[in-house]
Amino acid sequence: MTRFSAVDVIRTKRDGGVLSDEQIDWVVDAYTHGLVADEQMAALAMAIYLRGMTTAETARWTRAMIDSGERLSWPRGRPTVDKHSTGGVGDKITLPLAPLVATCGAAVPQLSGRGLGHTGGTLDKLESIPGWRASLSSAQIRAQLDSVGAVVCAPTEGLAPADRKLYALRDVTGTVECVPLIASSIMSKKIAEGAGALVLDVKVGSGAFMSSLDQARELASALVSIGDEHGLRVTAMITDMSTPLGRAVGNAVEVSEAVEVLRGGGPADVVELTVALAAEMLALAGVEADPAAVLASGEAFETWCAMISAQGGDPAAALPAPARVRMVPAPRSGVVARLDARAVGVAAWRLGAGRARKEDPVQPAAGVLCLAKPGESVSEGEPLFELRTDTPEAVDGALAALEGAVDIAESAPRRSPLVVEMVHGSR
Ligand code: URA
Repeated sequence: MTRFSAVDVIRTKRDGGVLSDEQIDWVVDAYTHGLVADEQMAALAMAIYLRGMTTAETARWTRAMIDSGERLSWPRGRPTVDKHSTGGVGDKITLPLAPLVATCGAAVPQLSGRGLGHTGGTLDKLESIPGWRASLSSAQIRAQLDSVGAVVCAPTEGLAPADRKLYALRDVTGTVECVPLIASSIMSKKIAEGAGALVLDVKVGSGAFMSSLDQARELASALVSIGDEHGLRVTAMITDMSTPLGRAVGNAVEVSEAVEVLRGGGPADVVELTVALAAEMLALAGVEADPAAVLASGEAFETWCAMISAQGGDPAAALPAPARVRMVPAPRSGVVARLDARAVGVAAWRLGAGRARKEDPVQPAAGVLCLAKPGESVSEGEPLFELRTDTPEAVDGALAALEGAVDIAESAPRRSPLVVEMVHGSR
């Protein structure tokens, strides 16, 4: 590989130039192997943040990050399809979705993440199930995909190591919120993971990374164009994250809600989004099935139990209960007109459901139950929220986060659609 000077690469981007394929391949590889220092990559990330990258640069950057590690492959047979969410509040959709899509006939290898900040992480939620383990080898993932059809686990060590290193660096250098860097980071992991098709759930609203529709569209298009470039069948769905999904926000509480959905019940918005994402995943995978009927039948619950047991978990075990529960009453009677996702996410995080630094532990039992969602009536003094925590001293911080989070009006607000827009790939 041609060698370059890191300083020249930084200067090119700093001055608004376009990086060549060779420069990108070199700098990503050299950073992965410690030949480019953290401070040099931090300067380059900031230059990219300020100057952006062209579509071609972003595609090459993604390829270089994929090539920094292993590419997984799956047994032939069932088509493979995956989903990725850009992160939201109460977003437990993966939990019912993976077993549902597997029950319908596709295979779902889903390598997931942990939560950081006010958005939760799928692995943290699943780890509230006694015995369940997130780390599997690629051979174990393959075997489970064959026997159960669905795996939700941590990324293997060798998957896109350049991204792991760069993401940690971006986290501490103010360079996370940059569309080409976010898109290449997400897609490098998803493409290396090897599924044949991918549905992206790009969240928009107060509880999401992208709070405006324009930003969400820009991210959705960047993700889809990288998928196209790499021969993946891909769709991005832009979905509303202005209010939490379902009633439960936390870890164990979200698992309980997901189980209700898998048993054919659960909140209407969680069911609606699970079915919409499943329908798109199955369409991309070329599998004909009716996910709404399969979900309502409770059949996917059997697949859930098999998926949890295969990773050492006991699907019948009681989930952890919190040491302290505090009810928050409605200040007046009326209909909930607005319930702010970000405020609820921050409250759950302060109660112990989330982490401030990636090495922090989370409390499995901590979280918030939203007892009245937009459109529902409440009477003054009736509980609006149930706060759960093992650290009672955290309650005041959660109450402060929830101040101004709810509007109660005379009549029901107009319901905004959950699926706002779709961006389809070219395949
Ligand atoms: N999620 C990722 O995996 N990478 C980012 O850069 C942002 C969110």
